[in-house]
Amino acid sequence: MKTILVTGSSGQVGSDLVAALRKQHGAMEVIESGREVAEQLLPYEMLDVTDSQRLGEIIEQDRVGTIYHLAGILSAKGERNPHLCWNVNVNGLRNVLEAAKFYQLQVFWPSSIAVFGANTPKVNTPQTTIKEPSTIYGITKVTGELLCQYYAHRFGVDIRSLRLPGIISYNTPPGGGTTDFAVEIFSEAIKKGSYTCFVRPETCLPMMYMPDAIKAILDLMRAEPAAITVRSSYNLAAVSFSVAELVAEIQKHLPDFICHYQPDFRQAIADSWPSVIDDTQARIDWGWQHSYDLPAIVADMLEHLSRKLAKEEALQPISS
Ligand code: SER
Repeated sequence: MKTILVTGSSGQVGSDLVAALRKQHGAMEVIESGREVAEQLLPYEMLDVTDSQRLGEIIEQDRVGTIYHLAGILSAKGERNPHLCWNVNVNGLRNVLEAAKFYQLQVFWPSSIAVFGANTPKVNTPQTTIKEPSTIYGITKVTGELLCQYYAHRFGVDIRSLRLPGIISYNTPPGGGTTDFAVEIFSEAIKKGSYTCFVRPETCLPMMYMPDAIKAILDLMRAEPAAITVRSSYNLAAVSFSVAELVAEIQKHLPDFICHYQPDFRQAIADSWPSVIDDTQARIDWGWQHSYDLPAIVADMLEHLSRKLAKEEALQPISS
């Protein structure tokens, strides 16, 4: 039987996706990978995705049949190091696509709402529209989408992709994204009762709860190849809300919670992205449907995160 390789498996989406894949396919069939030296009981490979030779070795030695290629640099971190962002996001993906062509692998790769820019319609952003991103991250995602489409049409690579919105989850925090405020706000609300947000209260972005994101990825990968009419990347949506609306929903559970605002360079990035995405094509082609709206996300996040933080605190050594 062929195995599944997940790159960037210790990241926000990777950690939850690995758990879901192991439940579905068996723990030993799913290989995590990343740049950290890790002593793991379950399959793990050291891999820098810009190293095509190492990638090939792993594919051969572990009989890999599918790659979930999640390793990437997000929008805010990308602005701090554009060279690294291009190298990891574009050259890493190209290595995966070349390997997929050679070894006939199925590939999942996440694109992002960051492919859109100031000239894109902000509300009900269509599947096919102007893509002129202002960030290097967005530029790598547009390039990646075109590469995916090219490898699918020219070489028949079974590559599938989603334009992910901001993802909200409690297991692993995101790192270096513009939508990170929608995750940080929960732990700060529980721990401190206040949060200083780096974008303004009226900032409204497309968001999704992790269980919906995982379901979307797995449903897309299970769909019949003939059903996949988009080989660049599908628009994917669940909910859109402003920071003010998120704060008000959290206050229903934690009435004393206060949010302060101190916008930084991430405001301009958020302002360049759409607020509501039209994902009709995904709903038609492979039956995409989300489950979690804003009240459901907030209730579930607060419940799980409170439990997690309480457990972590109980494990802290007592200082004398
Ligand atoms: N969540 C990502 C970011 O903020 C967007 O894809 O960078």
